[in-house]
Amino acid sequence: MSRKPIVAGNWKMNLDRTKARELAAAVAARRGEAAAVDLVLCPPAVYVETVGTTLAGSGSDVGLGAQNMLDKAGGAYTGEIAPPMLVDLGCDYVILGHSERRTLFGETDSAVNVKAKAALAAGLVPIVCVGETLEEREAGRTAAVVTAQVQGSLAGIPAGDLEKVVVAYEPVWAIGTGKVATPEQAQEVHALIRGLLAKLASPEVAGRVRIQYGGSVKPDNAADLARQPDIDGALVGGASLKADDFLGIARAFA
Ligand code: PGA
Repeated sequence: MSRKPIVAGNWKMNLDRTKARELAAAVAARRGEAAAVDLVLCPPAVYVETVGTTLAGSGSDVGLGAQNMLDKAGGAYTGEIAPPMLVDLGCDYVILGHSERRTLFGETDSAVNVKAKAALAAGLVPIVCVGETLEEREAGRTAAVVTAQVQGSLAGIPAGDLEKVVVAYEPVWAIGTGKVATPEQAQEVHALIRGLLAKLASPEVAGRVRIQYGGSVKPDNAADLARQPDIDGALVGGASLKADDFLGIARAFA
């Protein structure tokens, strides 16, 4: 089953408007270096429009994503962002359930589940993040934790929608720490996730879902990860803030 790799940059709460525009332009200009890979940029919400305009003006097919949204189409939700608003700005993707949202802002699997369904209904591709903490890994609970997150976050999504979803396996202990999972550790969990998707839908659907690895991915460790059969791309934090590093990672998956 061949899956088109997908490498997404999660800019988190970084950059300013000028730097966001410059980084988007630099990635778009060099998009051809990794033509076989879907590339996605996820800037802070306030810069989504700027980055979207820059990407559209470049004529490149670099995708645009947000880092979060609410599951409601609109209304009295001070400070929140509705899925149709993201679509209005040209977003194709939205990251959901990132570990920073889960740990710092209390997002649960059921909240992520409702958001994933709302994203799909609005025409957005959700990038649904899962992953264990160091404590959970050391206690031998990685498989149990990831299983509960995948089942809880993706429950009740029909097969036709599930195959559009991107899953990001991001061990929390590897995020922003410089400690990358070994290719074997990552592959083991990716294979587990694909098995869970097969049970939620079918082996055919599971074979079409792209599963990214995230957590300290850099140009010099990306190739080993990319060689694993169930690793279909990367969700990149720190290294996505430099065009050279982001494209270096993308090339490893090309
Ligand atoms: P990192 O972040 O690449 O800086 O470890 C990854 C992520 O949080 O998506």
